[in-house]
Amino acid sequence: MKTPRSLWHKLFLISSFGIGLGVGVLLYQEVCPEWIWTQISYNRRLAEVTGDKSKAFMMPQVKQIYLPQMMKTDRCITCHAGIDNAKMAGQPQPFGSHPDLGIPGFLEKHPFTEMGCTICHYGQGSATTKKHAHGPVHHWEQPLLPSTMIAGTCATCHQNTNGLKGAEKIAEARKLFEEKGCIGCHNVHGKGMLVGPELAETFGKSTAQFDFRFIHGGLGEREDETVHQWVEEHFRDPQKVVPGYKALGIPETPMPNYGLSEEQIQMLTALVLNFYSEEEKDEQPIPAKFKVGTPPAEEHPVYASTVEEGAALFQKFGCVACHGPQGRGGVRNKNMDAGEEVPTLVYVGSGYTKEQIKDIIRNGRYPGRSDKHELSPAIWMPSWKEKLTDEQIDALADYLISLQPS
Ligand code: HEC
Ligand code: HEC
Ligand code: HEC
Ligand code: HEC
Ligand code: HEC
Repeated sequence: MKTPRSLWHKLFLISSFGIGLGVGVLLYQEVCPEWIWTQISYNRRLAEVTGDKSKAFMMPQVKQIYLPQMMKTDRCITCHAGIDNAKMAGQPQPFGSHPDLGIPGFLEKHPFTEMGCTICHYGQGSATTKKHAHGPVHHWEQPLLPSTMIAGTCATCHQNTNGLKGAEKIAEARKLFEEKGCIGCHNVHGKGMLVGPELAETFGKSTAQFDFRFIHGGLGEREDETVHQWVEEHFRDPQKVVPGYKALGIPETPMPNYGLSEEQIQMLTALVLNFYSEEEKDEQPIPAKFKVGTPPAEEHPVYASTVEEGAALFQKFGCVACHGPQGRGGVRNKNMDAGEEVPTLVYVGSGYTKEQIKDIIRNGRYPGRSDKHELSPAIWMPSWKEKLTDEQIDALADYLISLQPS
């Protein structure tokens, strides 16, 4: 039986309609991309706010801020067109002017049309769709930072963020960092110890250098993976994120779980970003006119005694990170022979001569294993001879001898 002519006719009509629709949508996206509509809506609002009707008929155009030295082209203002227009204050984003953060002079001191946006916010400056500009998308490592993290980028220009309004959380985090003695395990700009990684490099790494399996399960790369997400989760529970791999002889991370509050986790993560921002980047130098202030000077306090100096050094160089406050109790160190913890130091005065103590500090020591079939302990006593002068080692020994078990 032959198909009736009218059915062929219908099929033909339906398929041409389908193809036509597809082509139409493609054409529309090409001729009228997202940013054009955003700018048309902006222009209409601007006309309303200013009472100048002609503004509504301005020709939409891609607007950009070009920082050749930093290889940055920020087109954010194509959509965020009212960012430096005080008349647009209080309008919803992306139409509103930039918040002043309650800091007098913030807007005037940071001319956005010169600095662009990604220097503080991250995001993909050259993109003109919201999804690609804000991220997260594949192959763009720096999507928009959440607001808790933005203070970590101020150090890109501000050589000293101590006391800087708007960056109070960084100063607070720095205190916590010193109190915990993180520097006893981590280098920051080459100062500290390399039991763990250099922290000024963390935010320069690609997400591919981090293992996200223990964060969201699964194996595949996900486009919403970010370094700050990994670092936050790692602070929340280091052993969950880095459980090691026994078959390859890799122990779980020795980094202590500090039981940090959510606020402390965000603060410390922003501080790690701040360390990265402080690094000079040869390939993306900051224009001289953007640089503010001078790095904080090294302090040289005067001490009443060597014991007092030793106590300060114990904190400053991060002995406290492994041996605890006043050397009263060490962090967990799986499979270490003398118990599963880094030793307390309150007994060294009775167990060793001063010279022996100085020798241990100078040269460091690898602990033995309590169970020969288990993995080696992940924490060792680093050698400090490259980091401390002989006088400083002497003061530390005097301090340790002064400690009393109680
Ligand atoms: C295609 C238009 C478009 C572009 C380009 C664009 N944005 Fe947005 N942006 C929006 C819209 C729309 C909003 C309103 C909130 C929303 O829908 O997420 C917004 C909101 C924001 C917010 C408020 C916080 C948030 O996520 O809601 C920030 C910050 C921001 N944008 C920064 C940027 C930066 C930085 C760039 C450039 C890298 C940029 N935007 C480029 C459209 C855009
Ligand atoms: C000097 C650093 C700096 C620059 C440059 C900068 N911003 Fe911001 N921006 C901030 C900070 C800090 C905040 C406050 C974040 C918070 O507390 O939520 C903010 C907030 C915003 C918000 C409001 C977010 C919200 O949730 O209300 C938008 C939108 C925004 N910025 C867009 C931009 C755009 C677009 C540019 C470029 C034209 C830009 N910013 C340039 C530092 C900066
Ligand atoms: C692109 C470089 C740049 C970035 C990034 C930047 N600033 Fe600034 N900031 C400046 C310059 C330049 C001045 C003006 C200094 C002057 O006039 O002496 C300034 C001035 C200020 C001032 C006025 C008081 C002072 O110390 O001079 C504050 C407050 C401030 N910035 C806060 C911030 C905060 C908070 C951030 C991070 C969210 C930030 N800035 C990021 C360049 C920058
Ligand atoms: C006992 C030594 C030790 C102490 C103390 C310690 N860490 Fe770690 N940390 C490590 C080791 C080892 C790693 C690498 C394995 C891992 O990722 O857990 C690490 C990883 C990290 C990472 C991931 C860095 C990267 O680039 O992969 C960050 C961030 C970090 N530590 C921050 C801190 C901060 C902040 C403190 C103080 C509050 C601290 N750590 C205290 C040993 C330590
Ligand atoms: C990365 C962790 C770590 C840091 C930081 C650290 N230690 Fe140690 N320390 C250890 C470990 C582990 C041992 C045990 C070594 C062993 O069993 O052979 C140890 C042992 C010692 C001992 C010998 C204790 C004994 O009872 O035998 C002294 C003394 C000592 N450390 C002093 C210091 C001083 C002073 C500092 C700071 C300058 C410091 N440590 C920083 C991990 C650390």
